[in-house]
Amino acid sequence: MVPSKKIIVTIDGWSSCGKSTLAKQLAKELNYVYIDSGAMYRAVTLYFLRNHIDWTSPVQVVEALQNIHLDFRFNEQSAQSEMFLNDENVEYVIRDLVVAEKVSDVASIKEVRDFAVAQQRKMGARKGIVMDGRDIGTVVFPHAELKIFMTADNAIRVQRRFKELFQKNPNISIEEVKNNLEMRDYIDSHREISPLRQADDAIVIDNTHLTMEQQLHKALHLVNEKCG
Ligand code: DC
Repeated sequence: MVPSKKIIVTIDGWSSCGKSTLAKQLAKELNYVYIDSGAMYRAVTLYFLRNHIDWTSPVQVVEALQNIHLDFRFNEQSAQSEMFLNDENVEYVIRDLVVAEKVSDVASIKEVRDFAVAQQRKMGARKGIVMDGRDIGTVVFPHAELKIFMTADNAIRVQRRFKELFQKNPNISIEEVKNNLEMRDYIDSHREISPLRQADDAIVIDNTHLTMEQQLHKALHLVNEKCG
């Protein structure tokens, strides 16, 4: 049964460990809004790449951010929220390796994080939200009712991301995917501002050996506990 009390659910964790799959399942089941915070950093990165912004220059970054408008729009056909950058649907292009190679650097910039976090907090103001990312339970919503931290074995994570990217680009190699994941995990967990870390009150879900149904069942159980 879906509890009537609305809460904030945060899902943080390493790259490609199934956060967004679980977040989407959970949001659907609870009739909550799902927000993919990584998509926002990816969209900003796409804008910087396309417009040749030198992101080592704070002046250029601040100026560029003033020209970026991000919003999520629900697509009835895919039954998913999609990322729009200045009114353009970029949901698919932001998943490219070209963006993935630079996104951790861009997400390390203070001005970029302030820009994204302010919008994320607004989205959660009315609760009833599942948001996934790296700093959602630690920085964006430190008082969230339910914080989940997801992990999975490295080899499984590489396989999953490879399968996903291979469908779009058959030239991609498993080595490229592995290197990208390792690099992002390193930068995301070692950066100065809001590094990826498990919140003290987060509950760990290791989904290496879980089916999608099993992980959803676990998460729903946690939601019910928090709402009870
Ligand atoms: O979840 P993802 O792989 O789409 O995220 C892309 C990048 O964005 C990830 O390498 C780190 C960054 N990110 C972040 O720093 N903070 C978040 N809340 C979400 C993502």
